[in-house]
Amino acid sequence: MLTETDNRPTILTGDRTTGPLHLGHYAGSLKNRVALQDTHRQYLLLADTQALTDNADDPRKVSRNVLEVALDYLAVGIDPEKTTICVQSGLPALAKLTLLYLNFVTVARLERNPTIKDEIQARGFGRDIPAGFLCYPAAQAADITAFKATVVPVGEDQGPLIEQTNEIVRRVNQQIGRDILPEACALIPTVGRLPGVDGKAKMSKSRGNAIPLSATPDEIRDAVRRMYTDPNHLYASDPGTVEGNVVFTYLDAFDPDRAAIEGLKGHYRRGGLGDVALKRRLEDVLQGLLAPIRERRSALARDPGYVLDLLHVGTQRARAKTQATLDELRAALGLFAFPRGSQT
Ligand code: TRP
Repeated sequence: MLTETDNRPTILTGDRTTGPLHLGHYAGSLKNRVALQDTHRQYLLLADTQALTDNADDPRKVSRNVLEVALDYLAVGIDPEKTTICVQSGLPALAKLTLLYLNFVTVARLERNPTIKDEIQARGFGRDIPAGFLCYPAAQAADITAFKATVVPVGEDQGPLIEQTNEIVRRVNQQIGRDILPEACALIPTVGRLPGVDGKAKMSKSRGNAIPLSATPDEIRDAVRRMYTDPNHLYASDPGTVEGNVVFTYLDAFDPDRAAIEGLKGHYRRGGLGDVALKRRLEDVLQGLLAPIRERRSALARDPGYVLDLLHVGTQRARAKTQATLDELRAALGLFAFPRGSQT
């Protein structure tokens, strides 16, 4: 339970609400979060405000997916008794902190952020970068520091955002003259990023190479059938390559029987093991993994009122926490406040 005397380290992490989560999220972060909720005070942020920074042309998609991502969290085993799930746009202190932090970071520094640079390129913004997008590292610094989080589990692409957060933390602390804000540590998963079913670098919904956590048995079967293997492995009897073979990458990620997988790798390399047999094994593993997640998800989806209530309670709890940090910071910086008891 979350109590005032809880002195476990605080985690804050989150996801942009642009679409339902997929297997890549599961392997890279969701599984970790389910484990971390027992040892940390964990907050999960449904980042709808940040999602808007590159989706202003489809705000309804962003709001629709608040519930979808929440369903994914709950379906994989995030326990609302242990983890506080909250909605970013319901936390006005975050917006206020963002505005404050924008005075402690330069445009040049924002433009130099490697994550931002890559994302600008990937989105083809050219010179037409939405200002909100360029500034989202300051908003992410607000998210992290408002909760005084010291541990931020994120993918490796987010490392530079944590660095930028800590620069802002040091600037603000220096201005105040004492360490009001803690620095945060990125917790980057040791397992590499899960490739898409097409073998391309990253699983992502927009590339159409993802397996959503809500995939039906047929969708799972089709995705495994389409999966990229070794293009030179034409006959079962041919020796095959394991490296870069997506089926093996997924077996490494999801099949608990390590010894059996090592055996299969040897067999595949020597020749005599066909893709069809290999894919059948992976399909069984994924069907087994996703069936209970899909069932929990669809049961919860039938009761959106319950999920919305949870988000409400979580957001309210987070509102108190984030507002307290903002108040503390404003006072320490000596920003204007009406005298106590005066009419505002
Ligand atoms: N940037 C993260 C993503 O793209 C989402 C996010 C928003 C986040 N605020 C955060 C992650 C704070 C960690 C900490 O998915």
